[in-house]
Amino acid sequence: MTDAYSQLLDATIAHVQGLKTAGVRHLSIAPETLAALIAPVPRRAPVSAARPEPVSAPISMPAKSVPAKSKPVASTLASDTKAVAMDELRSRVLPCMKCPNLASSRTQVVFGVGDIHAPLMFVGEAPGADEDEQGEPFIGKAGQLLTKIIQTMALSRETVYIANILKCRPDTPGQTAGNRKPTPAEMETCKPYLLEQIRIIQPRAIVALGATAIDGLLGKTEGITKLRGKWQEFQGIPLMPTYHPAYLLRNQALSEKRKVWEDMLLVMEKLEMPISEKQRSYFLKP
Ligand code: URA
Repeated sequence: MTDAYSQLLDATIAHVQGLKTAGVRHLSIAPETLAALIAPVPRRAPVSAARPEPVSAPISMPAKSVPAKSKPVASTLASDTKAVAMDELRSRVLPCMKCPNLASSRTQVVFGVGDIHAPLMFVGEAPGADEDEQGEPFIGKAGQLLTKIIQTMALSRETVYIANILKCRPDTPGQTAGNRKPTPAEMETCKPYLLEQIRIIQPRAIVALGATAIDGLLGKTEGITKLRGKWQEFQGIPLMPTYHPAYLLRNQALSEKRKVWEDMLLVMEKLEMPISEKQRSYFLKP
């Protein structure tokens, strides 16, 4: 198959899988489209033709950190295909009206931010007031702490991907301030979008921030204290549960910061990132 053809095929498959995840069971198709689909497959391009770059190479990490033998987790989508699939998903998510209460109360949908080729993805709970206003996840106080954690790992917001279980701010009728947890129904309704994002990005590791993210992704409600620091798996991708940065804002104890940092050290090890002595010793008592 030619590269252009296989990219188109990848994009089509990604699109159809997305529709399936969103609950669509039947597609109507024009006769000429059907005829084109069953036409003979174009011949393979000459071997010398360069294929697009593989997508889940840890672009953001120093080359040294990833030995040649390390394999990405089942990366199949070509680079352009990822961008097309993510844009297509974004165009479906931004006008979403599936939760009428959220659609009418939100300023905007908070889709997600970062590198769609990132090896590492952070998943939080739901946008707060700041995120709802600016359309970007984790930019309020908890978000600023998350940004610091990411930078302490020698990464940046631009080299990871950040998203939430819920893409709209949970409404708080009658309240002028404060947040509420997403309801199970809201989480179920919105989850297919996050699953599509994960399927497109194909990160090598996911960090689930807080109990709602763990519940949303793994369906586990046994308590963040028990789960944090222990590798889980989400659709074949290693998943590290850790405390939500908002918890660290509420509980300033060095011991709690160290716990989150130890979880991040495990993530860095999983991604074969270099770790300095200084990084190893953050938040240890002097
Ligand atoms: N808390 C979250 O879980 N997500 C955000 O985007 C902001 C705060």
